[in-house]
Amino acid sequence: MTALTLADRMSTRDALPTAAERFGVLARPDLDYTPEIARETAPLYEKVRAHTPEIEWPVYAPYVAAINRLKRERSAVILAHNYQTPEIYHCVADIVGDSLQLAREAEKVDAKIIVQCGVHFMAETSKLMNPEKTVLVPDMRAGCSLSESITAADVRLLRERYPGVPIVTYVNTSAEVKAESDICCTSSNAVKVVESLDSDTVLCIPDEYLALNVARQTNKKILTWKGHCEVHERFTAEELLAYKDADPSIQIVAHPECHPDVLAVSDYAGSTAGMIDYVKGKRPARVLLVTECSMASNVQSEVPGVEFVKPCNLCPHMRRITLPKILESLTDMTGEVRVDPAIADRARRAVERMVALAN
Ligand code: 13P
Ligand code: SF4
Repeated sequence: MTALTLADRMSTRDALPTAAERFGVLARPDLDYTPEIARETAPLYEKVRAHTPEIEWPVYAPYVAAINRLKRERSAVILAHNYQTPEIYHCVADIVGDSLQLAREAEKVDAKIIVQCGVHFMAETSKLMNPEKTVLVPDMRAGCSLSESITAADVRLLRERYPGVPIVTYVNTSAEVKAESDICCTSSNAVKVVESLDSDTVLCIPDEYLALNVARQTNKKILTWKGHCEVHERFTAEELLAYKDADPSIQIVAHPECHPDVLAVSDYAGSTAGMIDYVKGKRPARVLLVTECSMASNVQSEVPGVEFVKPCNLCPHMRRITLPKILESLTDMTGEVRVDPAIADRARRAVERMVALAN
């Protein structure tokens, strides 16, 4: 059988009915801030009160109410990453978590539609984990600097250059890149995944810093790629030491996408979920989360008494997801994520191998 060219695959894809054709387009809901909407959303406002001034709530509330109503009508669930804004994280999300938690939860979703409030690779992962579901991402342009740092052709070249060396690929990559990999990892299980492989040398791609941080925790030789997270690469050890100088009791909690020098001056390093658990468990008087700064806003209301110091680095890709775009996506059924079945099967194997290890 001859392999399908990209053009063949595109035309096959285009021939499929769109999500709008399958589910229908609904009328735009009214977005007035009525007394009913005020009553309905009042408990949700309490969760975001610390971040959303009361004067702004009449703008958010009609979207929150409309999205929650549409989710029921459409049989949809919202999976939101820990970096989403408080109004999304606390008011419309059904499931929140880090990349690994979201991938595992996506597999269990029973509803017909998954709305992924996160970046494109996360939506693709949900589609891989639960291919029967319709997966929507409210802004198709929500990318990731790590995902964009490497292509499937790059991975094939790495295989040629390092024959027999297993390739561990961070989930922050496209399905095409995952399909060329042996196994995926996330920031919460990278060391475990690397350790599980029967090889003294492992390619850990594309995040150079994550790979270097893994290398410090294993005896295996780790080969890296030059990808970086544009948010985490901005943090420096000097900057963090200045905070420590000002307050030696401050807890510094960092994400492993940061440079190893940053992790060296941190009290804890882990995935976004690991960072949240650490703060909830330790309840430090003052903490600095060395990561995308929306996360501090999300956790803050759950740990009263903990003061968050926020050097505010925002992920421009995560910020593309907004309440109006979620509503538009659910009304018009736009932003459907599809993965070529031939690529999906191979990419799924790499993700499932990781999930099996996590289980
Ligand atoms: P987590 O898997 O730790 O949530 O990280 C995802 C991510 O994109 C961090 O920048
Ligand atoms: Fe990608 Fe960094 Fe944004 Fe995470 S924070 S989605 S790694 S660019």
